Amino acid sequence: MNRQPPLPSQSAEQSPSEVLILWPDGSSSRATSGTSWLEAAHTAGVLIPTGCMGGSCGACEIDVNGHTVRACISSVPASRSGSLSVELTSDPYW
Ligand code: FES
Repeated sequence: MNRQPPLPSQSAEQSPSEVLILWPDGSSSRATSGTSWLEAAHTAGVLIPTGCMGGSCGACEIDVNGHTVRACISSVPASRSGSLSVELTSDPYW
């Protein structure tokens, strides 16, 4: 007998939602939660520096509402307030 694993349940919080993103240059754009940060930045015309594109070097780190994430392996999360503030991190070694 071939049994499939159960699909994960989806709650309302996991459903994609539109998020207003406030970028460091003062611009803003909208993206659907789940969109990669690099895609959201590209669409907004914002350059996030990259390096390895695999999550190991840290060149793409951004601060999202004060929490550091690596943009190349992260996506826009849902936001309870409907907006997220992004700052580029500055690393003296890059
Ligand atoms: S580009 Fe290296 S961690 Fe994202």
